[in-house]
Formats: sequence, C-alpha cells, structure tokens
Amino acid sequence: MQLSEAQRMTYETAKSFAEREIRPHVRERANDESFPLEIMRKLAETGLLAGPFPETHGGAGIDNVSYVLLCEAIGGASPSVFTAALTVQLSLVSTAVHVFGTDEQRARWLPELFSARKIGAFALSESNAGSDPAGMQLTAVRNEGGWVLNGSKFWISNGSQADLILVFAQTDTGKRQKGIGAFLVDGDSPGLERQAIADKLGLHASNTAALFFDGVHVGDDRLLGKPGDGFKIAQTSLESGRTSTAAAAVGIIQSCLDACIAYAKHRQQWGKPIAAHQLIQEMVADMATDCEAARLLTLEAARKRDAGEPATKNVVMAKHFATEAAVRAARTAISLHGGVGYLAEYPVEGYLRDAIGLSLYEGTTQIQKLILGRELLGVSAF
Ligand code: CAA
Repeated sequence: MQLSEAQRMTYETAKSFAEREIRPHVRERANDESFPLEIMRKLAETGLLAGPFPETHGGAGIDNVSYVLLCEAIGGASPSVFTAALTVQLSLVSTAVHVFGTDEQRARWLPELFSARKIGAFALSESNAGSDPAGMQLTAVRNEGGWVLNGSKFWISNGSQADLILVFAQTDTGKRQKGIGAFLVDGDSPGLERQAIADKLGLHASNTAALFFDGVHVGDDRLLGKPGDGFKIAQTSLESGRTSTAAAAVGIIQSCLDACIAYAKHRQQWGKPIAAHQLIQEMVADMATDCEAARLLTLEAARKRDAGEPATKNVVMAKHFATEAAVRAARTAISLHGGVGYLAEYPVEGYLRDAIGLSLYEGTTQIQKLILGRELLGVSAF
C-alpha cells in the first residue's frame, strides 16, 4: 500500500510527538497511575485529537488510514495514553456524537471533545454484561422532559475523569439490543458515583472505573438517536475503536522489535552479540513478520472504511490478529532480553501487561473470531 504525503505527514507528526512528549515519561506515569490529561490537551493543540472527522464539524479531516497511523505512533509509545486519548475519546465517544448526534449535539459536544476541554467515556459494559452487552441491567425510564437512569456500569475507561459519559441503558426491558438507548450524561450529575478500579495488570496510566447511577436525570436533549438505537450506536463506535486498537497493537509490536534489535546488537554472549545467534534471529524474524502482517490487516480495514465498503470482517481480523501478535511479541521480547526483560527498568514487560489489556477490551479475541465466523458462515454462535 502506497501512503500519500498527507498520511505520511500525520504519522511523522504523531511519531515525533510520541517520542518527545510521551515515551520518556511512560514508567513514571505508570507508577503514579496519573491520567494523561495534559498530554491530551497538547495532542489537541497539534490537531491530532480531532482525527477522522470533517472540518465542518471541527474535525481534522484526516482519513482513516491516517488515523490508524496516528494510533500506531501513540499506542507504540504508550498504550495507556492511546486508550484514554484516542480509542475512547475519539473512536468511541466522538464517533457516536458525530454519526448519530443532531446538529445541536454535534455543535455542542464535538469541539469540547476535540480540544480535550471535556473528557469522554463510553459506558457500555456492566459486571454481568461484558461480551453480551445486550444483557445490560441499567435502565432509563421516561419522566417529564427526560429520562431517569438507575443501575451500574463496570470497566469504564476514563470513567473517573470523564466530563461527558456516553451511557447505554435499557429503555425497553426485554427487547435486548432493540431496546437500548444511548445518553450523554454529565460526569458531575447528581446521583452518579464513581469508583476507580485498582490493581489492574497493565494500562496503569489509563483510568478504569465503576459507575453507579441512582436516579440520575437527563434531559431529552441528551438522548443520542432514537430510544432503540443504542446498540447500533455502540457497534458503530466499536468498529472505529477496534480498528484503532489494532493499530495501537501494531505500535506495540514495532516498539518490541526496535527494543529487541537494539538489545541483540549490544548484548554479548559467547564472545559475540546475541544478534548472531540463530534462535535470536528466529525471534526477531517472527516478530517482524507479525508486525508487517498486523499492519497490513489494519491498513486494509482502514482503507475499506475510507472507501465506504463493509469493513467488519477486516476490522475484527485486524483486532484479534494484531492484539494477540502484540502479546506474542512482548512475550518474545522478554525472552530475548533474558533477566532484564523481567525488570520494569526495561520497557518490554510493560508492553506484555498492556497488550493483554488490548486483547480484552472492545470485544475479546474470542468475540472478534465469533463475529468473523458469523460473517463467513452466515450462522450466529451468540
Ligand atoms: N456497524 C453498525 N451497526 C452494526 C454493526 C456495525 N459494525 N454491527 C452490528 N450492528 C447493528 C446491527 O445492524 C443490528 O441492528 P439491526 O438489527 O437493526 O440490523 C444491531 O447493531 C445489533 O447487532 P447484532 O445483531 O450483531 O447484535 P448481537 O447481539 O448479535 O451482537 C456481539 C453480538 C457482536 C457479540 C456484540 O454483543 C458485541 O460486540 N459484543 C462485544 C461487546 C464489546 O465489544 N464490549 C466492549 C466494551 S467497550 C470497551 O471495551 C471500551 C473501553 O473501555 C476501551
């Protein structure tokens, strides 16, 4: 695939931002578990947070190919920053507002999200509704001039920080995916409580929270689309999210490969650099092949999205292949580094912990394969 000058420029701008502003502080951020708010604001200043949305709505007007290159560059430096700033803020929340919002909703919320003046969160999962979100229990009941939300959400990235939470709720209990609505809820709404989820394996600089709704009132102007549109809205956003996450996983593989090549040339055993040992060369060759395959799958998914062609098959292939390849790459990178690979002082152990997170969120590897199976066989296993 030939990249255009504009696509290459987006990658170069994002890469130099990532190397300057993000990579040097990754370990310190993970230790502090600090939310990357000022990085999001700086990203916004460079225009990188306005992504693949038309300029008429305040977007950067880049295409999806450029967007995945941006996600590769940022995700390769910090999967946590990628999670907060790109896949959640842009792919999940901004996409929903852009595609399903009224003119008023777009004009009100998109500039706030693109500038990171408001932080967004996407509240779909519940503790008993993860892979099967249509089984959610949180309800939205009609009252005068709006809706009242009761229930809870779990695993919500940016949940503690978010000013604007896209909450999915049952508006017609019993109808599963046909009875779900999507609501834009203020983070400081009376009746909403939030609790950070502690002790995750990785993605430490990305906040994850549980949200509790006790009679939270939202006006009619906060409903996105129609009351039964929620599931379609979630799936539309997830298609962008899964593409972006595949790209971040490519970034992780590339970072593992770069770290391994540098280390293998430098580290001496049996009187020569370990790069000269055959088993080390096999590790690097496998990693490079996975990297290229994952990148091409991701670019093809993005190209199809740009062309307006059905892309679900390509998106789920890219998501499961790239995130699992990132887990393999990080695991191999630890082996190649030997004992020091097991230390936080070297970046590779962190990539393993973060890559596992990417293989779980926005639909696990198994869910991606079942969506692909349904696409290929025409039979649903859900
Ligand atoms: N784009 C647009 N609309 C879509 C779509 C897509 N790619 N895929 C499905 N839809 C629409 C369908 O058209 C359908 O509407 P109609 O009936 O009117 O045609 C509606 O959405 C329902 O779709 P399905 O029939 O596919 O529904 P399903 O119940 O069979 O879905 C499933 C099964 C695909 C497994 C779905 O439950 C699923 O995606 N599960 C995984 C959930 C998930 O990814 N959770 C992630 C949580 S968010 C997160 O992780 C964010 C974070 O913090 C980082």
